[in-house]
Amino acid sequence: MSARPSTTRPRTVIDLADVRKTYRSGTIEFEALRGVDLAIEEGEYVSIMGPSGSGKSTLMNLLGCLDTLTSGSYRLAGQDIADHDEQELARIRNREIGFVFQGFNLLPSLSAVQNVELPLVYAGIGREERRERAARALDRVGLGDRLANRPGELSGGQQQRVAVARALVGEPTIILADEPTGNLDSVSTGDVLRLFDELHASGRTIVLITHEPEVAERTRRIVRVRDGLIQSDEAVAA
Ligand SMILES: Nc1ncnc2c1ncn2[C@@H]1O[C@H](COP(=O)(O)OP(=O)(O)OP(=O)(O)O)[C@@H](O)[C@H]1O
Ligand SMILES: [Mg+2]
Repeated sequence: MSARPSTTRPRTVIDLADVRKTYRSGTIEFEALRGVDLAIEEGEYVSIMGPSGSGKSTLMNLLGCLDTLTSGSYRLAGQDIADHDEQELARIRNREIGFVFQGFNLLPSLSAVQNVELPLVYAGIGREERRERAARALDRVGLGDRLANRPGELSGGQQQRVAVARALVGEPTIILADEPTGNLDSVSTGDVLRLFDELHASGRTIVLITHEPEVAERTRRIVRVRDGLIQSDEAVAA
């Protein structure tokens, strides 16, 4: 890869302006996000912290185009998501974003390599290339010898690494992770965080939700959410 010309500024890959999200259940409304501004540039390594119920997962779901804004605007990779229909959005999402969900979200009846292949199936990539890339992604997370195992035959930490492999197999610009180390012991947490560090070093943009200060300290920027608003946004001291 050639070096970026020094005159080019990093690309803003996530740009939220005055974003609000109101949930409605029957006649009851709840404003989970109350005017959030957030810009993240390509290659940043950001953690999102905040108390339970503060709006972190809501924010992540909006960032991942898994839910719609009630008001405000969101530019993802330079494109205003309001300009796109559901199908186009799915395409942009598939190309730009890899997800690591809390609780892994692996399909129990599929093997590790089949789980990792899924985003490539949606991207319309042929069978052979799919299998090869999924195997390579699993190798990268240290599971090259577990391709055929189903999630139930893997430890929690291994399942989470399969989920990370699935997030990175499509080579997305952005990786979004909701509590990726939430249910892991300290050894598995270390494994998963080392992976994120490597992905960051290779230029990926990473946004992760965590309630663990030692996880947040490894990122370069900590955004704190409280009651649906950004309370603070600070660089982590090197
Ligand atoms: N589908 C929904 N319908 C109604 N209210 C919701 C819905 N999803 C979330 N909420 C409410 O919105 C608020 C923010 O929820 P959110 O899941 O974003 O919190 P969080 O910061 O991720 O919390 P946690 O740390 O517990 O995961 C909460 O008060 C929650 O009850
Ligand atoms: Mg949450």
